[in-house]
Amino acid sequence: MALQLGDVAPDFTAMTTEGEIKFHDWIGDSWCVFFSHPKDYTPVCTTELGAVAKLKPEFQKRNCKVIGLSVDPVDSHKGWAKDIEETQGTALNFPVVADADRKIADAYGMIHPKALDTLTVRTVFVIGPDKKVKLMITYPASTGRNFDEILRVIDSLQLTSKHSVATPVNWKHGDDVIIVPSLSNDDAKKKFPGGWKEVKPYLRIVPQPK
Ligand code: BEZ
Repeated sequence: MALQLGDVAPDFTAMTTEGEIKFHDWIGDSWCVFFSHPKDYTPVCTTELGAVAKLKPEFQKRNCKVIGLSVDPVDSHKGWAKDIEETQGTALNFPVVADADRKIADAYGMIHPKALDTLTVRTVFVIGPDKKVKLMITYPASTGRNFDEILRVIDSLQLTSKHSVATPVNWKHGDDVIIVPSLSNDDAKKKFPGGWKEVKPYLRIVPQPK
């Protein structure tokens, strides 16, 4: 069955541009963004990996490790890394998994043959420190991703994992949030003593908890 939110992310041992890793051990107590790209030495992928390398400090602020994957071998990744540094102005600073036999891609459902024969499409998995899948997004090969959106979702996931809140449309860090419908008003009074704005009984707005 296809991987679903809440499933434990399949563990694996694999060669990467930074040596062999055992995935769950490598994640440790961090959050993780695991993303696939279709192929080395392709234009959109080159811009994406450069952008992710530039955003590394933002991922680190969120205690989040980043790791890429494609079905190319590690020597190809390493050769391509030179082009990424040359053209994007940032060296590759996170590991990229070499999955030439496609075992990991298959375990994660990263190959969508009706879209792209044998290559991985652009999947993104956010995995929590508990190793469970918290977010899955899939883009076609022709559309480069917006990694600022991935950071925004990580902010939401980290906030909502600690507090009884959900984040509304287009929310970003610092904006007001919504009290989850499962929390009664009596319990909400204990958690949000400053009160809330009740737009509807099911739509209760509070400032973002610290
Ligand atoms: C690219 O990264 O530019 C790309 C890769 C595979 C198919 C189409 C575009």
